[in-house]
Amino acid sequence: MSVHRLFDTVSAASRASNCAVTIRRPDDWHIHLRDGETLKAVLPFTTAQFARGIIMPNLVPPVTTTQAAAAYRDRILAARPEGSDFTPFMTCYLTDETSSDDIERGFQERIWIAAKLYPAGATTNSSHGVTSLKRISSVLERMERIGMPVLIHGETIDPQVDIFDREAIFIERDLLPLMARHQGLRIVLEHATTTESVDVVRANAARMAATITPHHLIINRTSLFQGGLRPHLYCLPVAKHERHRLALRRAATSGDRCFFIGTDTAPHIRSRKEATCCAAGIFSGATALQTYVQVFDEEEALDRFEAFASLNGARFHGIPPNTGTITLERKPSRVIAEVGVEDEEIIVFRGGESLPWSISGVSP
Ligand code: DOR
Ligand code: ZN
Repeated sequence: MSVHRLFDTVSAASRASNCAVTIRRPDDWHIHLRDGETLKAVLPFTTAQFARGIIMPNLVPPVTTTQAAAAYRDRILAARPEGSDFTPFMTCYLTDETSSDDIERGFQERIWIAAKLYPAGATTNSSHGVTSLKRISSVLERMERIGMPVLIHGETIDPQVDIFDREAIFIERDLLPLMARHQGLRIVLEHATTTESVDVVRANAARMAATITPHHLIINRTSLFQGGLRPHLYCLPVAKHERHRLALRRAATSGDRCFFIGTDTAPHIRSRKEATCCAAGIFSGATALQTYVQVFDEEEALDRFEAFASLNGARFHGIPPNTGTITLERKPSRVIAEVGVEDEEIIVFRGGESLPWSISGVSP
C-alpha cells in the first residue's frame, strides 16, 4: 500500500524537476530505541539521519534513576555503528514517586536534559506513569525553577473519553490547569496530532513547543482502515481526522520556532503488531527525513525545512545547532521493507515503497 499517495496535494508534474536541499544536520527530539538486540537493529537508521536525539525512557522497567539513564546511554553509545558520532540525550521517566532532588541532580550532572511525563496507562509501557498531575507538583515546581523541560504525552487517561478526543480533552482538563499552576515551566507537547494542540502551543510559544511526527503528516484516521485494518499505522496518539492532518502540515511547514522534529519512531516486532491486541507504535526511523522533506516540498516550503529539522528544537533546548550538513535529493529510491531482529522483523513505515526523496549525503 502506498499511504502517502492518497494525500499528495501537489501534482507530480509540478515537482518533476530535480532538486536538492542541503541543511544543517537535523536532530530527532523524540526517539524510542528500546534495548538489547532491538536497539542494535534500529539505531543505525536513526544515526544515518540524525546527529543527536532525545531518547524515550519507557523501557521495561522504565528509566527512573540517574544510574539507569547513564547505563542506558552507555549501551546506546556502544551500539552505534562504526564511525557514528550520534549523541543521545537522555530523559527521566516521571512516576508518582519521583524525587525533586534526583530530578535536579540528573539535570545538573547532565545525565538527562528533560523528564518525560506519561499519564499512567496512556500508551506503551506507561503503566508506571503519573496517576495525577497534582501528585508531581513539587517535581514540576523544581523543574520550573531549574529550567528543565517536561515532555508530555498529552492524552487523557479517562477511559470514558473517545480515543480520538483524548488529546483535546487532555489540553482542556489537564494541560491548561498545569500551565496555570506552573507558569514558568518549559513544556514540549509531544507528537501533536490536533488543531487544538497547534493552537495551544502557538499561544504559549514563549515557553512551549511541539514535536510533530512524519506519520501524522501523511496519514489520517481513515488510513488506518484503508482496505482493511492496518496495524502498522496504529500509534498513540492515534492519527486523527483529515482536518487535523492539514493543520499539522501547516504548523510544521510554517517555520515557526515552536514546531520541530520528533519522529516518535517506535519499533515493535511484527508479532506484537499483527496481533489480537496490536501494540501502539510506528517504526519511522528509516524513512523519517525522506517523509518530512516530501511534505515540505508538497507544501512549497523547502526554504523552511532547515528551521523545522535542524534549528528550532536545538534552540528550544538551548543547544547549538549541528555544524555538519545533510543533503536530500528529489530522486526516487526504494526503502527497505523491514528490519530483522533475532528471528522476527520490524515493519518499516512506508517500507518497500519508492519514495520521491532520498538522502544523498551527510558531511559531519
Ligand atoms: O505509538 C506509540 N508508541 N506511542 C507512544 O507514546 C509510545 C510508543 C512506544 O513506546 O511504542
Ligand atoms: Zn513516543
